[in-house]
Amino acid sequence: MHELSRVNVARTRVLVTGGAGFIGTHCCVALLEKGVDVVVLDSLINSELNAMRRVEEISQSKIHFVEGDVRNTPLVKKIITEHNVDSVIHFAALKSVSESIKSPLEYYDNNVVGLISLLQAMQETNLCKIVFSSSATVYGVPDRVPITEDFPTAAINPYGYSKLMAEQLLKDVAKSGEWSIGVLRYFNPVGAHPSGKIGENPKGEPTNLMPIITQVAAGNREKLLIYGGDYPTLDGTGVRDFIHVVDLADAHVAALRHLYANRGIRVLNIGTGRGVSVLELISTFKEVTGVEVPFEIVARRPGDVAECWADASLSNQVLGWKAEQSIEAMCEDAWRWKRDNPLGFAD
Ligand SMILES: NC(=O)c1ccc[n+]([C@@H]2O[C@H](COP(=O)([O-])OP(=O)(O)OC[C@H]3O[C@@H](n4cnc5c(N)ncnc54)[C@H](O)[C@@H]3O)[C@@H](O)[C@H]2O)c1
Repeated sequence: MHELSRVNVARTRVLVTGGAGFIGTHCCVALLEKGVDVVVLDSLINSELNAMRRVEEISQSKIHFVEGDVRNTPLVKKIITEHNVDSVIHFAALKSVSESIKSPLEYYDNNVVGLISLLQAMQETNLCKIVFSSSATVYGVPDRVPITEDFPTAAINPYGYSKLMAEQLLKDVAKSGEWSIGVLRYFNPVGAHPSGKIGENPKGEPTNLMPIITQVAAGNREKLLIYGGDYPTLDGTGVRDFIHVVDLADAHVAALRHLYANRGIRVLNIGTGRGVSVLELISTFKEVTGVEVPFEIVARRPGDVAECWADASLSNQVLGWKAEQSIEAMCEDAWRWKRDNPLGFAD
């Protein structure tokens, strides 16, 4: 048994910023199931309040929800004090690479200034435990796979830079005092809660692969465009490390346990350790759902890499956590969410 399994998170109070979003909602379910008291701060810029109600339905527990912006430092301080918060999980950010190229200032403001505001509020209230959502994008174009945490970092767009800047900020802050910080570099989160009640519901055009696959499957768009069929991979399409969002949510509970037991900063890959090509994902989707996903292979997109998958052994070892769910489950759950909720969270 892993040493962290003895750390009890029940009845601790966690502030989840961006808790109404895709990963945040699944994380709230995982926390509530462990008896954690959850406070969500979300501006709803990319989510809907109904998502919180669905989380309450699944977990049969109440959430304290505050609509507001993480850049509002006095508000964050007030929440931390009023709710006696023990630790923070920081999801709130903007996440589209293409939008970040069009609106870099908005991205730096939200993702970097937002983190500074949160850390200031934490420092002023003597709160020092935080889990941060980083991304495999910080590896830029990796030389080889699998990727370990000591690979060089690089960014190729403002979104990537905002995550790298945030990581640097956290490393510097960790040196300045008694902080406990977990930086989780997610690979490619997909899937949805098996209940079919919550899932990825981007406002506007999705830029991630799975929501586009499910939109094509549902007949909302004609076909999927696959960028690049001539990569040096087994079938020529890009290879990624798809991880079920429920596994990802569990990694946050494990990271919290780690923070409650350790000081300093830990940077960890959160992936399955297995690469799956875009074509493999599409054929698995068809196999498990019986629904066809028409596609067309077009030219590569600048900035995309051939292969990006994690060596997840450090997070397995440090957190006593491992991604368990199959590609089949990821496809099945993503489709159930889309099929049962054609209008997203609107009832
Ligand atoms: N989904 C992915 O593929 C992926 C991959 C790697 C890292 N990440 C990171 O994980 C985190 C969560 O991603 P997600 O997929 O759940 O995104 P999401 O857009 O679904 O959720 C983000 C949530 O944060 C809220 N938000 C944004 N800015 C805010 C602000 N200033 N104040 C308060 N709330 C704010 C949004 O309304 C939304 O509910 C982000 O930091 C993202 O960069 C996501």
